Amino acid sequence: MQTVFAPNLLAGKVALVTGGGSGIGAGIAKLFAEHGAKVSLVGRTVQKLESVAGEIAAAGGEAMVHAADVRDFALLDEAFAATVKRFGRLDLLVNSAAGNFLSPAANLSANGFRAVIDIDLCGTFNACRAAFPHLSKQGGSIVSITATQADVPTPLQVHAGAAKAGIAKLTRDLALEWGRVGIRVNAVAPGPIENTEGMSRLAPGTTADSLKKRVPLQRYGTIEEIAAAVLYLVSPAGAYVTGSTLLVDGGTSLIGAGPFLDMMGA
Ligand code: NAP
Ligand code: COA
Repeated sequence: MQTVFAPNLLAGKVALVTGGGSGIGAGIAKLFAEHGAKVSLVGRTVQKLESVAGEIAAAGGEAMVHAADVRDFALLDEAFAATVKRFGRLDLLVNSAAGNFLSPAANLSANGFRAVIDIDLCGTFNACRAAFPHLSKQGGSIVSITATQADVPTPLQVHAGAAKAGIAKLTRDLALEWGRVGIRVNAVAPGPIENTEGMSRLAPGTTADSLKKRVPLQRYGTIEEIAAAVLYLVSPAGAYVTGSTLLVDGGTSLIGAGPFLDMMGA
């Protein structure tokens, strides 16, 4: 990415990124490493994590991987302990791990709803909670990736909308409690981001075409644009920002559920 930031904004920092093995999480991890952070990548699939760690190493950065399901607090706790053992400290946490799929609420099973709440909302709490003892030593910063569905009523995604709304609230509550120990807690809500698993699952075919035309900025966002927003929040430029959710959506939330309504067939 052609950076618009000063170099080495994160020199000496250590970051853990859940969902760092692909998509937006991988993009954030790579930008953090480019700015001098040592990065710990967490997800369920070790091959994906190793592939991103390999890219970071090839670019001159330093990364480690730790396989863990964010739904399992004990495994996550081990991931943080291993990170601090290897890199000596923890300064930054990014919660990007999530699951989503399209399903009419009337067909969604209780377990399907719970699976997404467990990964997105409980997984985010688990990571924040496991990070706390490490971050509170010298202060730090947490950014969770939420989504515009947290605010915009969106058909076929009741599970993800509820989970992401929970993350936005959790962000504000943790910011209130943890500001006094020097931990800032924020979120980034991306709009539709090109070349991601999220977009291939949620806006297939014609929906993608009609959505792109309606985005006020007339295009999808890029992984690099989301990573840049996260970098801003954790960098010294964001030092007085806490409890906020930064919309990085090209104005998509201004148009409501738009093309997704067509997918209901109503
Ligand atoms: P993605 O590539 O599928 O990223 C999600 C990552 O989370 C994967 O690497 C996945 O790896 C990991 N993951 C899933 N379940 C997990 C679990 N239980 N424990 C640990 N890791 C888990 O999708 P993406 O599109 O980049 O999405 C990244 C984030 O951006 C998500 O929070 C998503 O809601 C948000 N977002 C995306 C868009 C978009 O347009 N793409 C828009 C708004 C918000 P494993 O399966 O190997 O664990
Ligand atoms: N439509 C309706 N229900 C679905 C579904 C779909 N497309 N996919 C899964 N479910 C339901 C399952 O049927 C199951 O419920 P049941 O036991 O009542 O049948 C429940 O969700 C859990 O499914 P399972 O496959 O066991 O979940 P998992 O924990 O292994 O996987 C998912 C979680 C379902 C979110 C999976 O899609 C995933 O791992 N996604 C990660 C990547 C991703 O979604 N990236 C995009 C981020 S925006």
